Amino acid sequence: MKIEIITTPNEELKETGFGTLKACHNVLDSISKLGHNVKLNVCRSLKDLALTVNRKPDLVILAVKYISIKNGSDIWLAEYFAEHEINYSGSSREVLNFDSDKVLAKSHLMKKGLKTADYFTAIPGQYKCEADLPVAFPLFLKPLDAANGNGIDDLSLVTNFAEFEMKTLSLYATFNMPVLAEEYLDGQEFSVAIIRTESSKLIVSAVEIIPPQSTNGLRILGEKAKKEDSEEMRKIEDQKVLNEVSKLAVDAYARLGIWDFGRIDIKTNKSGRCYFMEANLVPGMTSGSSYFPRACEIANELTYDEVIQLIVEKGISRVPYAIPPAIVDNTAEKHVMAMLKKPVNLSESLLSSMP
Ligand SMILES: Nc1ncnc2c1ncn2[C@@H]1O[C@H](COP(=O)(O)OP(=O)(O)O)[C@@H](O)[C@H]1O
Ligand SMILES: [Mg+2]
Repeated sequence: MKIEIITTPNEELKETGFGTLKACHNVLDSISKLGHNVKLNVCRSLKDLALTVNRKPDLVILAVKYISIKNGSDIWLAEYFAEHEINYSGSSREVLNFDSDKVLAKSHLMKKGLKTADYFTAIPGQYKCEADLPVAFPLFLKPLDAANGNGIDDLSLVTNFAEFEMKTLSLYATFNMPVLAEEYLDGQEFSVAIIRTESSKLIVSAVEIIPPQSTNGLRILGEKAKKEDSEEMRKIEDQKVLNEVSKLAVDAYARLGIWDFGRIDIKTNKSGRCYFMEANLVPGMTSGSSYFPRACEIANELTYDEVIQLIVEKGISRVPYAIPPAIVDNTAEKHVMAMLKKPVNLSESLLSSMP
């Protein structure tokens, strides 16, 4: 199969996707081992994308959501390749909106009855006093559309109106977007990597994440913790917690219409109730450090190569009539399914709406 990994110089982007070139090389190495004809393509222009289309790859693996064109608008890769009828990995352009806009994902899931922290958005000066605020303190303030903990630190937790105004002002100045203010969730933190296999089974890998404690005694996965890689990831031993976390993640995955794979972040409140926090649809893929492959390893003993193989198998399964179904080599799926202790249960009605 002809496969291209599409990325762009992404240091400047708010949303970095798989990560730096290192992550893309990790993916490239894993796909090479499978015997595919694979190349890494760092795209900077429409011309680079057009050349890819001309080569007619069987599958493009999208390592970023969009590329920024000098003096032009961003080009969303899922949209571009869909228009040019090239088979791509990840999720459609519409679904990716749920990743880029946390409020969109939250409001969509709230309507479907899923739990997510109460919230409102704010710009500086919009609210005059504490009594005007739609949700009571303590609140957690973060950027609407950034990732990697950007803009998130101890000052995100605000307990009075002066702190609220200060953090709103600083986030607004940096991100130039309304600020997302959420009910503060004071419990454990979880991340759930979900991969849909070629035969539409879900492999759900839920782990607990323990951020380092800050000097103020807070445990927040902000910019600093993520940069320093100082958070700990743990297997969830409590079966009840594991079930609850996995169920919420799978519900969110299905309701958001995610295609191949995605990582759902969840937090609990003081009494242990699970809340959807955000969906990461082009999650970090650096071998050994990114949450997605690490969660798969910790929860389900999947190696990095197996994770990539499952993603590639799913992508290739969409190549029309490329290989007769009888000889499709879904080795990774067979191996993983044999190894997983219990099959993944997902209500048929939820899956039926998915591509
Ligand atoms: N409502 C909240 N209450 C408490 N902590 C939160 C809340 N929202 C986010 N956090 C903390 O901030 C971190 C980053 O938030 P998240 O929405 O996942 O943004 P990012 O896209 O930067 O990962 C979370 O992992 C969690 O530690
Ligand atoms: Mg997150």
